[in-house]
Amino acid sequence: MRRLLLFMLPILIIVTIVLVLFGILQVRSEETKLLDELKRKARAVAESMELSVRHALINNDQRSIARLVERFQKRERVQGCAIYDKDGNVLAITDRFLEWKKQDRPYIKDLLAGPKAVPRGSVEKFKQYAVYSYVFPVLDDEGKIVGLEEILYDTSYVFTQLEEIWKRLTIALLTLLMLIAGISLIVQRRIFTDPVERLTEWFKKFQKGDIDHEHPIKDKGELGKLASEVEQVALGLRVARKVVTEEAQVRMQKAELWTEAKLRDLVRAKLGENALFVVSNREPYLHMINEATGQARCVRPASGVVTAIDPILRACGGTWIAHGSANADKKFVNSRNKLGVPPEDNRYILKRVWLTKEEEDGYYYGFSNEGLWPLCHITHTRPLFRESDWHIYRKANKKFADSVLEELPSKNPFIFIQDYHFTLLPQMIKEKRPDATIALFWHIPWPNPEVFSICPYQAEILDGMLGCDLIGFHVQYHCNNFIDTANRFLECRVDTEKFSIVRGGKETFVRAFPISVDMNINSSAGREDSNNVEKIRKEYELEGKIVGLGIDRIDYTKGLAERMMAIDRFLEKYPEYRKKFVFIQIGAPSRTHIKRYHDLMGELDELAERINWKYKDDEWIPIIYLKRHFSPEELKPFYRLADLCIVSSLHDGMNLVAKEYIAAKNDLNGSLILSRFTGAARELTDAIEINPYSVEEFAASIKLAVDMPPPERKRRMENMRKIIAENNIYKWAGNIITEMTSLRKA
Ligand code: F6P
Repeated sequence: MRRLLLFMLPILIIVTIVLVLFGILQVRSEETKLLDELKRKARAVAESMELSVRHALINNDQRSIARLVERFQKRERVQGCAIYDKDGNVLAITDRFLEWKKQDRPYIKDLLAGPKAVPRGSVEKFKQYAVYSYVFPVLDDEGKIVGLEEILYDTSYVFTQLEEIWKRLTIALLTLLMLIAGISLIVQRRIFTDPVERLTEWFKKFQKGDIDHEHPIKDKGELGKLASEVEQVALGLRVARKVVTEEAQVRMQKAELWTEAKLRDLVRAKLGENALFVVSNREPYLHMINEATGQARCVRPASGVVTAIDPILRACGGTWIAHGSANADKKFVNSRNKLGVPPEDNRYILKRVWLTKEEEDGYYYGFSNEGLWPLCHITHTRPLFRESDWHIYRKANKKFADSVLEELPSKNPFIFIQDYHFTLLPQMIKEKRPDATIALFWHIPWPNPEVFSICPYQAEILDGMLGCDLIGFHVQYHCNNFIDTANRFLECRVDTEKFSIVRGGKETFVRAFPISVDMNINSSAGREDSNNVEKIRKEYELEGKIVGLGIDRIDYTKGLAERMMAIDRFLEKYPEYRKKFVFIQIGAPSRTHIKRYHDLMGELDELAERINWKYKDDEWIPIIYLKRHFSPEELKPFYRLADLCIVSSLHDGMNLVAKEYIAAKNDLNGSLILSRFTGAARELTDAIEINPYSVEEFAASIKLAVDMPPPERKRRMENMRKIIAENNIYKWAGNIITEMTSLRKA
């Protein structure tokens, strides 16, 4: 309140002074106007009488003089008249002014004695009245004064009017002062008190570790900017606090294998205060409105990038910049479009970048997924390169570049970009921040130069990527393809010893880093896990059945149709497994606005339906097709109960489902059927390898898996689990970060 008074008082004083001055001027001018009017009236009256008075005075006609004066008896407003002789004696005067005669009137003598006979008017006091007196000299033909006429008016109405003006001005002043006070109060509440109260409230929640996503600070103006700055610091602190708390535990652990803690130690030792910035198209946490309940919920999308990178940022903190694509995303960010994630245990910062529908169509659906995706996956789906998509793709890369640049610390930041959505981003960032160390990981295959030459924008894409200091692929074969492609289409020098590309004096290293999963997240097996497994077994009537499992985004690269056809052939060829074998296919709908994906959904529905119709009876169907998004927690029991898992991609960079299955099978009782066209097949050599295009081979592999003697199954599973335990996601990240820091700019 004191602050408000301090703020308002000067305004109120100034307004009062201005209004009072204005009032004085207004009243003065009104007074002058009214007196002028009186003077004019008086002169008119005097002039109209002049002839008669002169005549009466010259002839000393007392009766006429008295009559002339009598005319004023009945006039309103105490109007009166007096006639004087040339010596200033009153010859006649209106009755109501009889006492006027006793009044001291020096102006009469002055006028008669003065050199010039000019009329004059003035306000005089008479009893309780203020009277306006207008004295008019009456002259003879030679211009000598023969007497005077004095016209008298009551001026009280003039002063009443002036009083009225003062009254009105006072009311206006008071109203204005009240309005100013009211408006100031509202303004000060809106721009100061409310934001400060909100900020205070927010901080209270922050202190309790309860960040309020429902009401992010979204004030505009200077205070809003301050609040927003404070909010960023607070969010950073919160995330940092988690990391620091766990630092102590890290030092206690001296594990040989790569762990979350070991990675965190490495990051802190290598990057120091320079936090890691990750950029991807897909965000790790989506906020979606549940149409049934109208409630927003947080969802982890089905994405290899998310599966791999989320544990890394959970371990070492940092900022992940991604497209905010879900319908409730905007509700959960602060004034800088950021939030702490995971929502229940903030470990790092997610910054959401907003794209328009047009941008999403051109950059994500169009250029990335109708162009680059089929270009890089050899699955006989024709890539589509539209000029308009390319322009929007460039624009979206620029938008992400701006968003990244505004986050970077002043010195030597580390930026880790994900995938084919951002081929131009490295160059865009490098131009502005040559001190940044930039790595790009390409999560999908890289084709050979002949295939890549289909792309009309090959040179720009390669140039954009060579803004990186490091480019990673899952397997060496893709690294070789990339080096060959750059060599073929760009003017550059390839250093085959260092495995780098030098263009325009800038060197980019190319390395294979086979991505993986966090073994511990997937293999923990508590009572709750067993209960969940039993629940599913009951729900889908799987008791006593051999259960096969497939978990995929519904994508034409995943070989889903080939898989169903192989199941069909398996049941056809080995009828003894009918009623004994059930295959659960979990399919997360993906990129459904693209016709090819939309059509694929229809094809798969039809295929599953046809196969089920062919074999099913009242108690059994061979394929349970669950077509929706499942959270990682929901997937876990499916992995654990499956006797075999099928990954039949026609072409895949790595395929983390294969590795997640291995990680989840800590009972060692499961077989993996794995396409030879996945990156994972290079490491998981104890899987049953298939060519998904060969239906006979595929069906025979299913037979092999279900018939495999348990000791053999166990041996294979043990080997594969060892490989994943040793080459887990923390090792993958550790290798990339070590490589990045070795390339750090001085
Ligand atoms: O793993 C390859 C990849 O394209 C990732 O970049 C992506 O996150 C994932 O597949 C899922 O695809 P989308 O993000 O288009 O749903």
